[in-house]
Amino acid sequence: MSSSSLTIAGLAKRYGAFVALAPTGLEVPAGEFLTLLGPSGSGKTTLLSLIAGLATPDEGEVRIGGQDVTYRPPYERDIGMVFQNYALFPHMTIVENIAFPLKMRKVRDAEARKRAFEALDMVRLPHVAERFPRELSGGQQQRIALARCLVYRPSIILMDEPLGALDKKLREQMQLEIKRIHRELATTIVYVTHDQEEAMTMSDRICLMNAGQIEQLGAPSDLYFRPRTVFVADFLGESNLLPGRVTARDGETLGVTLTGGAGSGPAIASGALPAVGTDVTVMVRPQNIIVRAPVAGSGRLVGRLTDVMVTGSLTKLYLEATTPGLPQLVAAYPTRSLSDGHEIGQLLELDWQPSDAVAITAAPGH
Ligand SMILES: Nc1ncnc2c1ncn2[C@@H]1O[C@H](COP(=O)(O)OP(=O)(O)O)[C@@H](O)[C@H]1O
Ligand SMILES: [Mg+2]
Repeated sequence: MSSSSLTIAGLAKRYGAFVALAPTGLEVPAGEFLTLLGPSGSGKTTLLSLIAGLATPDEGEVRIGGQDVTYRPPYERDIGMVFQNYALFPHMTIVENIAFPLKMRKVRDAEARKRAFEALDMVRLPHVAERFPRELSGGQQQRIALARCLVYRPSIILMDEPLGALDKKLREQMQLEIKRIHRELATTIVYVTHDQEEAMTMSDRICLMNAGQIEQLGAPSDLYFRPRTVFVADFLGESNLLPGRVTARDGETLGVTLTGGAGSGPAIASGALPAVGTDVTVMVRPQNIIVRAPVAGSGRLVGRLTDVMVTGSLTKLYLEATTPGLPQLVAAYPTRSLSDGHEIGQLLELDWQPSDAVAITAAPGH
């Protein structure tokens, strides 16, 4: 299967005065798995529809494999699409459903059938070929929708929340399945989800969207451990977001005094290095927090344990800072045994590695 690069240049879409997508640029190399992630209404579907040709932009260009396709209809773009609502034809068998796009493309019957069976193998459902859609589960129907898109070998596949209707277990299974197919076919995939875990699991890169704009674009671990904004830090999962001010700077390392007076220990900047005196938010992921008995005079953050939650594989400690002006604190570590001796109300000092503390300069939300 061939695979194409995708270029978005200055692409914008408005509905009346409402900006659904502000002018946006994006380069997706051939073969990449890119995820558009963001809250509901952030412009993910708008961007995907412009790539697909289901909507017309107010400005800008879409190029697929270097060719300007901005004003071409969807069927002239060499793309495949899979949506949450898989819309199989109820009166056709599974193999007829899958062969349908080939028939539209005037492929001979025997050849279409052969390729439909290949696509069925690809999604590991060869035995359902002669059934009707109503005889399949939701997860199986979604695989058939995927097979119907794979069958004509598009060079880019666009997926809009394709697993949104499935339960958690099935969704995780399908995530692995789609990843496997991506590896085998090396096709370019632009995938939309509002689920940060799904995006982290599946993507080569994540394009995090907020209010019709790209908030940050990068590898999942970049966004997770080096968020440029508080919005990114917050969207990508649980974190400690501690307001403070830069009080020292030594090369790339910052000294930050947290609101309330505790020291953050050394921190690193996720973007441009802020000057002494700048307000920042220090982000530390829960699993990077080390808790221990308070050491007198250490100047470190101290919290009072308010809750212990065992979520299966992780144990989470929730703490209330003993200094004012800080939000609830959370530390997490792999659950080792039934009881690990923490007592509600006890005081614990919070520590972390300098490289795990990220000073974010941009104001919340931007
Ligand atoms: N046809 C339309 N007319 C008016 N507003 C629209 C239309 N389509 C989308 N929007 C608005 O544009 C914004 C972005 O929508 P969308 O791209 O569907 O978001 P997402 O897929 O990230 O949830 C939303 O506020 C939505 O209400
Ligand atoms: Mg959407």
